[in-house]
Amino acid sequence: MRTWSSSLLLVLGISSAIQLAQAATGVLSGITDIRITACPEDNCSIPGYRKVPQDLNKYSRGSFVHLHFADDEHQPEEDNDLLALDTAQEQRKRKGRHDRKRRRQQHPITQLAVQQGQDADMGPEWEKLEGNLNDGNRGPVLTMFVKRDPSQAPVDSIVVKYGYDSHAAIGYDRLPLDLNTGTGGQWVYLYYKKSGPREPITHIATKACTIAPCIMDDSWTRINRPIMTGTFKRYLYLFYKSVPGERPITSLSLGLQRQDDSGDENDDMDKEILDTGIRFKDSNIFVSLKRGQLGEERLHAVDNIAVELGSNQIPYRWNVAAFEGESKGEEVPDWNAQVIYRTGHKALPVVPKLRFKENGSFKIVQFADIHMATGPHSCYNVPSTMECTGDINTLEMMERMLEAERPDLVVYTGDNVDGLSSKDAYATILKYSKPVVDRGIPWTIIFGNHDEEGDLSREEMMRSVQDIPYSLSERGPLGISGTGNYVLSIYNHRHRGHSWGGMDSLRKDDKSQFTLYFLDSGAYSFSLEYPGWDWIKEDQVEWFRQTSREITSRYQSDEIPNALAFFHIPIPEYDLTEPEDAPPEDGDDEDDDNGKNSRKAHKKHRKDDDDGRVVGDKGERVSSPSYNSGMFDAIFESRDVRATTAGHDHVNDYCLDHRGINLCYGGGLGYGSYGSASFPRRSRVFEILKNGQRVDTWKRLDDPEMTVVSLQTLFDGRKSDQGVEFEEQQSGPTSSPNRRPSHLTPNDVWESLRKGGQYVLGGDN
Ligand SMILES: *[C@@H]1O[C@H](CO)[C@@H](O)[C@H](O)[C@H]1NC(C)=O
Ligand SMILES: *[C@@H]1O[C@H](CO)[C@@H](O)[C@H](O)[C@H]1NC(C)=O
Repeated sequence: MRTWSSSLLLVLGISSAIQLAQAATGVLSGITDIRITACPEDNCSIPGYRKVPQDLNKYSRGSFVHLHFADDEHQPEEDNDLLALDTAQEQRKRKGRHDRKRRRQQHPITQLAVQQGQDADMGPEWEKLEGNLNDGNRGPVLTMFVKRDPSQAPVDSIVVKYGYDSHAAIGYDRLPLDLNTGTGGQWVYLYYKKSGPREPITHIATKACTIAPCIMDDSWTRINRPIMTGTFKRYLYLFYKSVPGERPITSLSLGLQRQDDSGDENDDMDKEILDTGIRFKDSNIFVSLKRGQLGEERLHAVDNIAVELGSNQIPYRWNVAAFEGESKGEEVPDWNAQVIYRTGHKALPVVPKLRFKENGSFKIVQFADIHMATGPHSCYNVPSTMECTGDINTLEMMERMLEAERPDLVVYTGDNVDGLSSKDAYATILKYSKPVVDRGIPWTIIFGNHDEEGDLSREEMMRSVQDIPYSLSERGPLGISGTGNYVLSIYNHRHRGHSWGGMDSLRKDDKSQFTLYFLDSGAYSFSLEYPGWDWIKEDQVEWFRQTSREITSRYQSDEIPNALAFFHIPIPEYDLTEPEDAPPEDGDDEDDDNGKNSRKAHKKHRKDDDDGRVVGDKGERVSSPSYNSGMFDAIFESRDVRATTAGHDHVNDYCLDHRGINLCYGGGLGYGSYGSASFPRRSRVFEILKNGQRVDTWKRLDDPEMTVVSLQTLFDGRKSDQGVEFEEQQSGPTSSPNRRPSHLTPNDVWESLRKGGQYVLGGDN
């Protein structure tokens, strides 16, 4: 701890530059408050707080106990401040307000702990939270404590997972105590992540088990996954701990050592060999580590270790634990994965504000439904002549797109991770972002319905994405539904010689000229009245309305910047192209050997059917929610949004002009999910021109020529010039959304299914 503050200063020096750059989008923010609620029904919520969905009393017959957390950026009483503000003055003002508020109120939480017993007390530095994590069950009282230490990095993400073998994304720490201790219920663990450096690791141990749970005493943290499985029906885990004042570990490696070699050649005094006790053929499996000197821990110490499955991507500025002593020509053991470690905390590269080029253009490439997985994955619905090996083809298409279009921003519009085939979603995220990160292109994501079906939650994936260079994605306000509701702004070109760096943002005329809205459209409906796909919730629609109002009110009415909106599941208005009585044609997909993923044949949409309102193809039914939450009306009534783009339907790729708003699809790109052999995978481009006044769009096909199709101008001019009536309707949305659904829990749906209910999900999107 002695060297902590001086090197923290070092770290802060770098990271304040990052904060300056990220201020435009207001990225990571520390958790400022955690509350525990206990309700007899599963209906507790706290306005402005994010509810952690997992019940901490799972299967233990108590109340429904939930954690809720808030960050300072998004306190409910500051609703009007949630928005990305334009000028540096405003940002500084806002930051000042927050700083004052923080000082007045509280520094973000930097450490968490849970203790057993009614009278648990951890001393004056720790704040005891109200509530018992074992409320209403037969277990001991469990009390949660938080610490706010201004010299430490804030906790900025919390997740709860079930099961003794649970793990969270790389970089999350687990509280040692099971939050359902002593109840006989489900194992419940809390994981948290901090945005800055962590304690240097000083001890490593291994343990091999044949039966679960494979654990050591609570002073040790187990690394999320076993480093070996299978070979001997045994699991080999790594454990670590951090003891202040001990010499830190600076590197580690794994290997095999022939028994006749043991004891020899180890003349490196700083190297330690840990015999795992597991033999392979005539060798021992060992872990070797090196220690550094006290005092250099912040720069060189290992502060994080993880095990990654089936991936050759490693997180930014991590190292792979080398494998030593290959057994000579013999088989190698069944390594489950690669062990990776991080030394020190290093800042991400600065992402400058998004700006128009000198000629007033800005190009966005949309990667829709890439459906990537851990490992090679597979190919669906491709022509029999095509050599397709899975994600490699998807990645190649992405690279070709980036080379052909050289975009200024890339947007992954959901179903980025094919959850069900991703054992390691973190590795999959690293894989799909690599082509963009390698080229230094800013990128951003929203979630689809499949991302969360793997090992990570939306919360963990969003937080993980934020640790990858050039990412502009944000979690968004905690008090509304969904993860990833946020705004990005595109600014004027910065003229050379005018000013530079931080000074640039002080210019009065540095106003945003175009707005991009991102919304999380959820996954599946839990409503019996409106089964099928999820929808953008009313609180998100309201957030959009408020945000748009706030942004547009800063401009003269003839200067309001145009905007685009991105979401995954198409809103119901996308469906207007459905021919009234044409029955769906059945497929001619030649290579459709997987019935589950078969689709109707792709059918050219006849433009004259719709008076030229549709450009592009419709090859399947529109899979939108059966409930209309009023998002279209909010968009229609906004003063800025001119067009939207969605994903979800892989063989629909059209833009439909509905009441002057263009509703577009990206067109599916991933080979690892359904498509059509007669409909090449594709990707959409939006080129914003004339400093935001005009937007052109087209698609490129994954063919040898990267054929451009459906080039069209979506709009030219400002929305206010288009004679659209903006009067807000006090009496509610114009196209009369369905009445409000009553929400059911997954359990209700399950019950209904058991009773022979008609709850059926839509297609396989
Ligand atoms: C939860 O539901 C119960 C019973 O339906 C009701 O009495 C209670 O007021 C609800 N609590 C909240 C916080 O909505
Ligand atoms: C604008 O300039 C960029 C290079 O800075 C060029 O690639 C692009 O084609 C130009 N666009 C137009 C519309 O002139």
